[in-house]
Amino acid sequence: MKVVHTIAELRAAIGGPQRAAFVPTMGNLHEGHLALVRQAKSLARAGEPVVVSIFVNRLQFAPHEDFDRYPRTLARDCELLEPAGCDIVFAPDERELYPEPQGYKVNPPAELADILEGHFRPGFFTGVCTVVMKLFQIVQPRVAVFGQKDYQQLMVLRRMAQQFALPIEVVGGQTRRADDGLALSSRNGYLSADERAEAVTLSRVLRAVRSQLDGGDRDLAKIEQGALDALTARGWKPDYVAIRRRADLQVPTAEQLAAGEPLVVLAAAKLGATRLIDNLEL
Ligand code: PAF
Repeated sequence: MKVVHTIAELRAAIGGPQRAAFVPTMGNLHEGHLALVRQAKSLARAGEPVVVSIFVNRLQFAPHEDFDRYPRTLARDCELLEPAGCDIVFAPDERELYPEPQGYKVNPPAELADILEGHFRPGFFTGVCTVVMKLFQIVQPRVAVFGQKDYQQLMVLRRMAQQFALPIEVVGGQTRRADDGLALSSRNGYLSADERAEAVTLSRVLRAVRSQLDGGDRDLAKIEQGALDALTARGWKPDYVAIRRRADLQVPTAEQLAAGEPLVVLAAAKLGATRLIDNLEL
């Protein structure tokens, strides 16, 4: 496995005409990322290297968010990546990726990117789309794998690839969970022992939403409010719990609900100082 830090080194390492299977990350890797890397390995065709980028992208953090304290653990990440099947780690520093302020940006449409995560984190998806577009130009992958835990991110990036006719297949990887059901996330590392024990409530609340829909309840606003109340009662500060259409994360109409529209429930909530997100297809 090669570890490279510049665009020139990366291009030399990929070499030749072959493309790559790509997993963009911000590092501080856990089993969820490693599963994406193994998935990329299984999707890679003969001769195509698996490339993992590690870059904490300032553009997608608001000034009050955790950019400065986001864990940087490159040496340990590399130890985990090699056995997972990674061939090339691309770990640029900020001067390499943003040698001058990034004036050209990719602004995703408001109806996809200013809702849910984008409502609570204004500019987040512009930051994500801009860095991913840039990484796509640098790596030129044939296939790129993103975790379904960031469900809206995956949808926004898939549409970006479609609308710009990028010759890149955007693939989703299943969310990995701890034994108690908590979705794996780098931000779980911020939780105290008590908070870690409580964190499982988020996935429990989502499963309760699924049970209510499975039981025939179709009053989405009531179900969402019940989930918000359950979180608040246990000391969480929820941003949203939202039952949406999988395809575009819009609110389903009554007709669509009756016709069995594929749905997903998405949630974001703060536990202490840590903001966690999760989702469940219904
Ligand atoms: O999901 C992430 O880790 C980041 O948003 C991504 C896709 C690597 C872009 O910085």
